[in-house]
Amino acid sequence: MRNVISFLNMKGGVGKTTLCKEIGLYLSRNNKKVLLIDVDPQGNLTQSIFEKFKYRHEYESETENNKKYRICKATISNVFEYTSVVEGAKEADFILTLDENLSIIPGDLNAVFFERSGGSSESENAIKNLIEDFNIKEKYDYILMDCPPTFSFYTTAALLASDFYISPIHPDSYSVLGIDLLFQVAERLRKVYRDRFKLLPLEHLGVIFTNIPRPRSIPTGMQNMMDDIRGSKVLRDLQVNFFNTIFHSNKEFSKKIDYFIADSNSELSYRNLRDIVTEFEKSIHLLREDQRMERGGEDGEES
Ligand SMILES: Nc1ncnc2c1ncn2[C@@H]1O[C@H](COP(=O)(O)OP(=O)(O)OP(=O)(O)O)[C@@H](O)[C@H]1O
Ligand SMILES: [Mg+2]
Repeated sequence: MRNVISFLNMKGGVGKTTLCKEIGLYLSRNNKKVLLIDVDPQGNLTQSIFEKFKYRHEYESETENNKKYRICKATISNVFEYTSVVEGAKEADFILTLDENLSIIPGDLNAVFFERSGGSSESENAIKNLIEDFNIKEKYDYILMDCPPTFSFYTTAALLASDFYISPIHPDSYSVLGIDLLFQVAERLRKVYRDRFKLLPLEHLGVIFTNIPRPRSIPTGMQNMMDDIRGSKVLRDLQVNFFNTIFHSNKEFSKKIDYFIADSNSELSYRNLRDIVTEFEKSIHLLREDQRMERGGEDGEES
């Protein structure tokens, strides 16, 4: 399988982390093997998952409340320090297995203090090399990466390892510019790292509107904004795919960081998430079919 997907938008607070963890848990609860990777030094994905599965990093101080949390030694910092030429690296240095179907390469809350603006080519390629060296694509149906809201070493490392990227947006008057910029960034990467992308294309799965009220409660201004974004000439020229399903608002997210729709009893949100995941899997399938046709219809998958 080649399903490595980055959740990407340079704009902050648009729902990247929320959508990534929700799609990830939903897929894992529906018999798919999922690896989450927290590439964002803010570590929000890790915080949510650690709270839900009761883990903490060694350096997080023990309090009365988190005494019963297990210690996790795996971190993404070990990935960025990983070089394929040094022997002795173990999967457990990077990957924390949460249950039968779900694992995570957790972020490192300490990483926010590290200066990683440049990054050597070795560390830029670290996620990609690790995935190859440990045959990680064979072990998971989906690898989902939560990216920071910046164009940085972290996003380069994520995109170099990705087959697809998906862009959550919360509609505002800068959304069109933001997506245009994202496409320019991806195009630049394809040029700079042409050998890498010649072998494995990086394709846009689509834009998905997030944190939108339920259908009959969408304010007219917001609905018009979404229509304008969908219909904008710039995005039509770029042939941007928009998910038909929008990710509706759910108040529980702001109340509990360990809230997950797939494990909740919210029927409306569950159905909404199910539709998003169906479209997500379908978009991947369709793009793969296109790629196969372009290669001349052969069935073999390159890794
Ligand atoms: N569907 C939703 N319903 C309600 N709140 C949501 C929804 N999606 C996201 N949010 C809230 O919006 C805020 C931003 O979401 P999130 O952290 O997922 O964005 P992000 O793009 O990952 O942000 P950053 O760029 O800082 O990483 C959070 O408080 C989150 O709980
Ligand atoms: Mg985030």
